[in-house]
Amino acid sequence: MDSFVIEGGSRLRGSLRIAGSKNAALPVMAAALLAGGKSLIEDIPNLQDIRSQIELLKLLGCRVERRADGKLEIEVIDETSSHAPYDVVRKMRASICVLGPLLAKRGHVRVSMPGGCAIGDRPVDIHLRGLRALGATIELEGGDIIAHAGRLHGAEVFLGGNFGSTVLGTANVMSAATLAEGTTVIECAACEPEILDLANYLNAMGANITGHGTPRITVEGVAALHGAEHRIIPDRIEAGTFMVAAAISNGELNLDNVRIDHLMAAVDKLRSIGVIVEKSGGGVTVASARRLEAAIITTQPYPGFPTDLQAQFMALLAMANGNSIVSEKIFPDRFMHVAELTRLGARMHREGATVIIEGEQQLIGAPVMASDLRASAALVLAGLAARGTTTINRVYHIDRGYEKIEERLNSLGAKIKRVDQSDAE
Ligand code: EPU
Repeated sequence: MDSFVIEGGSRLRGSLRIAGSKNAALPVMAAALLAGGKSLIEDIPNLQDIRSQIELLKLLGCRVERRADGKLEIEVIDETSSHAPYDVVRKMRASICVLGPLLAKRGHVRVSMPGGCAIGDRPVDIHLRGLRALGATIELEGGDIIAHAGRLHGAEVFLGGNFGSTVLGTANVMSAATLAEGTTVIECAACEPEILDLANYLNAMGANITGHGTPRITVEGVAALHGAEHRIIPDRIEAGTFMVAAAISNGELNLDNVRIDHLMAAVDKLRSIGVIVEKSGGGVTVASARRLEAAIITTQPYPGFPTDLQAQFMALLAMANGNSIVSEKIFPDRFMHVAELTRLGARMHREGATVIIEGEQQLIGAPVMASDLRASAALVLAGLAARGTTTINRVYHIDRGYEKIEERLNSLGAKIKRVDQSDAE
């Protein structure tokens, strides 16, 4: 198992291209199961989660190939298996997004029920409610979700839950509705840019979806979909993470391939903290203004502040002038990073789903443990700002969502070594 050894204190400077979005790519790849013919998808990042999704698509009868130009070619060649086994699903919860496509195209599906993870319980009840409304029969057996349907039928489907809508639930129901008989209206649909991207791909495949990007999505079912070419949107969470890297290291970065309109809540917070963020061409320039101000942040569904940037901003606010408050409204237990940041000298007090951060702390390097993808990113950021050496164990979590993050940060002036854990201890 690899670890990172970070020598803190370097100011990051330079330019970097932001990769295609992991969370847009995963449901788009699953939606390729709906097509007859080949799909060609551009800007799929090279990450562990993507490799797990490729493995799953192969088990489900697809030919998947990364071409020399980096594009991913996906073609369904055998529709006999509709089983997403526990071995794959336990590695990556997002495997659940094959549920809707397989049910709609093959009429039956068996997907291992994803368990909880370091960020909370993560139920899939709303996905199942939505697919039942389209006519599916669903039961649970041996830890698997087993769903059957003839041709699905259009329906009015409400996808709201106690924490707002569901991103992958919307992806599942919208994908399944493309091949249903008649019209589906999804109310309280997720508005995240990743859903918009998926709808654009489905429409390029011949689907008839309108209203995507708003809380009401309408899908007119069609008889069949064909393969299509599609380019994945830039990863807004990776962009936000590198923006924080610029700010926390008191540096200046030019980030290319950034959709600033997908990141306005985070950019607005950065500006209020005192970070300079300017649009430049197809990207942004981010520079620290040296003195960082405290902030009050509440995570919300898009276009609110993203939960996937909560941990990274918490690392930044540990350095700010004054006390900050961070409330988590999507995953109320997503705070595993708090104890680890505290080991680095941050002063944070958790009360339920809210954390108060006493600012102006000089972080000091220490050994810490990565618990999940975004928590690991927060620890890397804190390590960049800390005095001395920070060792982050279990960095396989970060490899799930950021390609070669240490090499890319090092190209900007960071000092991060990847070592085998046994060498680090
Ligand atoms: N929820 C339910 N029932 C459901 C589905 C969700 O109660 O059937 C609840 C969840 O427990 C949570 C809220 O609804 O409280 C929102 O969860 P959502 O379903 O939107 O999350 P997701 O679709 O499973 C995606 C991203 C996450 C990101 C969330 C929220 C992917 C592969 N994952 O998960 O990304 O945090 O949306 O924006 O797209 C990450 O990249 O680090 C990550 C965790």
